[in-house]
Amino acid sequence: MPLVTTTEMFKKAYDGGYAIGAFNVNNMEIVQGITEAAKEVNAPLILQVSKGARAYANHTYLMKLVEAAILETGLPIALHLDHGDTFELCKSCIDGGFTSVMIDASSKSFQENIQLTRQVVEYAHDHGVVVEAELGTLAGIEDEVQVSVEDSSYTRPEEVEEFVSKTGCDSLAIAIGTSHGAYKFKPGTKPQLRFDVLEEVSRRLPGFPIVLHGSSSVPQEYVRMINENGGNMPGAIGVPEDQLRKAASMSVCKINIDSDLRLAMTGTIRQFFKEHPDKFDPREYLKPARANIKELVKHKLINVLGCDGKA
Ligand code: G3H
Ligand code: 13P
Ligand code: ZN
Repeated sequence: MPLVTTTEMFKKAYDGGYAIGAFNVNNMEIVQGITEAAKEVNAPLILQVSKGARAYANHTYLMKLVEAAILETGLPIALHLDHGDTFELCKSCIDGGFTSVMIDASSKSFQENIQLTRQVVEYAHDHGVVVEAELGTLAGIEDEVQVSVEDSSYTRPEEVEEFVSKTGCDSLAIAIGTSHGAYKFKPGTKPQLRFDVLEEVSRRLPGFPIVLHGSSSVPQEYVRMINENGGNMPGAIGVPEDQLRKAASMSVCKINIDSDLRLAMTGTIRQFFKEHPDKFDPREYLKPARANIKELVKHKLINVLGCDGKA
């Protein structure tokens, strides 16, 4: 099976009340951990590559790793550019075989966002590629861009119909209180997503797939594993999984997870070195890290996204 777009996946997810997991990939062990989990539970997948990941690992290496994953699993997999910030970057990924791109012009004015998104949509659709756009600004860190909580803003539902009809985008990322990274909510406060905003967006865009970025739950067992083995991440807090499950049962068809994979990998490796300070073979510490990524992703696919058995 070749790489697929997200069109069919999102239609089934919308109708079925579940979401597709969009996991960020940077290297072979991460690709293997995610795709082995999806194979075991027969889940469709979106593997996504940020600008930084592409600079780190190289377009061709990532492309070939994902092609290898398709050969090994036989699953429907979409390859997506995460947070594309220019037309040129989106074009390069489209020309290089990605089946989906995000143009993130959410930090620009409404009109500039429409213009740039429209330009990417025209090129993408001419090449059989789908486009995710964003309205509203998430707090946190993406690539080198840091957005403070004060500068973040929820999506304004009254803008979504005009935005989608003028741009022709295929899915829309909205801001309802999630944020990038491992420090999403103030310690001691109760994390709560703005389901009222999501409901109003969905009412205005019936049948249209919504995307949630910044959706790591920051598993405390991995934060502990990091902190107990030489790390220092106090106050790392994520989005409660039951709220993500609820969003997945609504119009949210794509849920982005990256930080949780990083925490699982780093926690496992830190613990490995605490227990085996004499070891230096990368295969020995990457193997348990990959195994824990696999377990984490399996848990997400079954208990958070609800997309097991849907491939
Ligand atoms: O939204 C950001 C993703 O977690 C990608 O992060 O730009 O550091 O690769 P990155
Ligand atoms: P997290 O930092 O919550 O994993 O979000 C990842 C993301 O939104 C990638 O685009
Ligand atoms: Zn994101």
